[in-house]
Amino acid sequence: MKFKAFLVTEEDGKYNRSIVEKNIDELPDYDTLIKIEYSSLNYKDALSASGNKGVTKVYPHTPGIDGAGTVVESKNPNLKPGTEVIITGYDFGMNTSGGYQEYVKVPSEWVVPLPKNMSLKESMIYGTAGLTAAISVYKLVIKGEVKPEDGEILVTGATGGVGSVAVKILSKLGYDVVGVTGKLEEKEFLLNIGAKRVIGRDEVNDTSRPILKGVYAGAIDTVGGNILSTAIKSLKYNGVVTTCGNVAGASFESSVYPFIIRGVTLYGVDSVQISSSERELLWNKLSTEWKIADLEKLSTEVTLEELNEKIELILKGENKGRVIVKL
Ligand SMILES: NC(=O)c1ccc[n+]([C@@H]2O[C@H](COP(=O)([O-])OP(=O)(O)OC[C@H]3O[C@@H](n4cnc5c(N)ncnc54)[C@H](OP(=O)(O)O)[C@@H]3O)[C@@H](O)[C@H]2O)c1
Repeated sequence: MKFKAFLVTEEDGKYNRSIVEKNIDELPDYDTLIKIEYSSLNYKDALSASGNKGVTKVYPHTPGIDGAGTVVESKNPNLKPGTEVIITGYDFGMNTSGGYQEYVKVPSEWVVPLPKNMSLKESMIYGTAGLTAAISVYKLVIKGEVKPEDGEILVTGATGGVGSVAVKILSKLGYDVVGVTGKLEEKEFLLNIGAKRVIGRDEVNDTSRPILKGVYAGAIDTVGGNILSTAIKSLKYNGVVTTCGNVAGASFESSVYPFIIRGVTLYGVDSVQISSSERELLWNKLSTEWKIADLEKLSTEVTLEELNEKIELILKGENKGRVIVKL
């Protein structure tokens, strides 16, 4: 059987993207065959599509770290044909052929059943970005025990995929969210999705002093670098901050003072290797008490043919909300 796929090829150090026809026997030899309905675009997909060897070592390659669809066949008896499933994380779309194609083959352990109150499309509006936002909120709210009455929560990279979903969930849970953005022209978008206030990136970039006035009860940082450093030293007593991304820099500086004077906690967030049970717990939360109303307002839908333009946009940091890919 032939099907359509997005393919990145390497020639003399240059990377080309095209739409090709593949055969089922070109897929990796894993136990579960899935027909993909939707995938999504994450920053990591754009890196994979542009030759970043930290993400994808060998080309030709079909990216797409997210996929949602129906099981065609599986050696795992729990995955009957027709079961609706989500695939995110592990090696999917990195060095294993990913979601930007009509069929994929994956190990059954990578598959999560679609929660009851969620459509395949909704699951991809969340995608890895939404799962990462959910892990960040989980660490801040449940592990870190930050309550709405404790004060404002900073969300950085607020118009991006992880940032915008985090703003939505936190505002639904009753938190006062301060969105940090490099796109102040998108202030209305951020206020509409639930931010209480919006500030520019330059207001969260103070490298001069080891500790600043304690303003925020918590922070969900999606960008790293100086913005993360500034967020850490702007937290109130017992403040909690999560880190998941590096678009503003992979390194950050900090003195020990926020930690030893203010009791600040820093949580790392990883969406790739979290356990299946935590993955299922968070997908279920995203479909019930954390479910975002008007989820579609966060997303733009594209076809495989329209994906290239969005990849260029996300690489430039100009993406807004979530991009989903209809197969
Ligand atoms: N740890 C994990 O498991 C995990 C999972 C998913 C994503 N991530 C990481 O999380 C980050 C965000 O991913 P995403 O998919 O949400 O990407 P995204 O949609 O591109 O969002 C990133 C946002 O960061 C801001 N930004 C971009 N360049 C910046 C710069 N140079 N300095 C400061 N801010 C900048 C922009 O928002 P504003 O214009 O609003 O500031 C941008 O929209 C990426 O680094 C990604 O690799 C990690």
